[in-house]
Amino acid sequence: MTFPIFELLEWYESQKRDLPWRKTKDPYKIWVSEVFLQQTQVSRVIFYYERFLEKFPNIESLANSNWEEFFPYFQGLGYYSRGKNMLYAVQYIQQNFCGVFPKEVEELQKIKGIGKYTASAIASFAYGKNVPAVDTNFIRVLSRFFNIKKGEVQKTAEQMFKIVKIPDISLLNHAIMDIGATICTAQKTDCSRCPLQKKCYFFKNGQEIVPRLPARPRRVIQQEYAILVLYQDGKYFFQNNAETKNKKAFLSFPQIIRPTGKNIRHLLQEEAIQKWNIHISVRPPFFTTDIPHANTFLRLSFSRAQIVSGNLLHSAENVWISPKNLEENRYDTYSLKVIEKLKTMKIPSPQ
Ligand code: ADE
Repeated sequence: MTFPIFELLEWYESQKRDLPWRKTKDPYKIWVSEVFLQQTQVSRVIFYYERFLEKFPNIESLANSNWEEFFPYFQGLGYYSRGKNMLYAVQYIQQNFCGVFPKEVEELQKIKGIGKYTASAIASFAYGKNVPAVDTNFIRVLSRFFNIKKGEVQKTAEQMFKIVKIPDISLLNHAIMDIGATICTAQKTDCSRCPLQKKCYFFKNGQEIVPRLPARPRRVIQQEYAILVLYQDGKYFFQNNAETKNKKAFLSFPQIIRPTGKNIRHLLQEEAIQKWNIHISVRPPFFTTDIPHANTFLRLSFSRAQIVSGNLLHSAENVWISPKNLEENRYDTYSLKVIEKLKTMKIPSPQ
């Protein structure tokens, strides 16, 4: 599969991150940035990098310093062994390479604290060597693109770099790094913005990673109510709630607390027998709503029903109202909601 280098470089030209170590070809400065970037985020490194280079602008200045002088400029980046290795490294370069960073990856790897990745980064960024700088971002991007194992990336990348002919091959390393850092991250992929998209195995096989939204906290239902919408002879049944000090009289559909797991139909049938001595047939709830209550919710389930045997006569307490007269009365909020709902329903009766 071919790798769309020119699309990638075009993208990089307009989208690249503006990072201070990309403005230099000085191997010492590039080495400093790479050591600082091990285990530390780019945004944090910038400040340390610039301050460090003001104090130690070249190999000599660092080679002539000691731990006490050096430490305050490294403190905060963690892993002091990295700092110690930096001091060893500059001494080694002074003694073995006449104070100049070597150009070849193999030579660079002889220096303390410089592994394959850092050696390749220095060789590529400072000396324009045709070598891939394979870090975790690089591995992720190429293994997804080619659908290869992580362990196969180094070899594949080396083959790819060997045959590429562009004036500044270091740009390819920078660009792949930026794709991995901004578009093709471990947690999400933004394939619609990716210049590699058209040829990418990962994209073509629909493996785009859309970050999961944090799970919504589960609703805590404090209490459930079964609400009876009894309809008979063209009228709805309501209970009349007497006027109190704070509230005027209002009507409501009968509300019964539902014990957890109790069958709603049985619950309403039992209530009807107990309260009014009638037998009713009950349909499954036609409307369920959760009402916020303190920090929890009340769940209301409305079920239509009709009388099968017995009489429930109109009285001061028990009120039958035809749909056309519904507007004339006051209702509690929940009953009002259901009345609105009933108006939109085709069959008001529980036949
Ligand atoms: N992470 C490691 N090396 C980097 C570099 N040179 N630029 C951006 N991020 C990096």
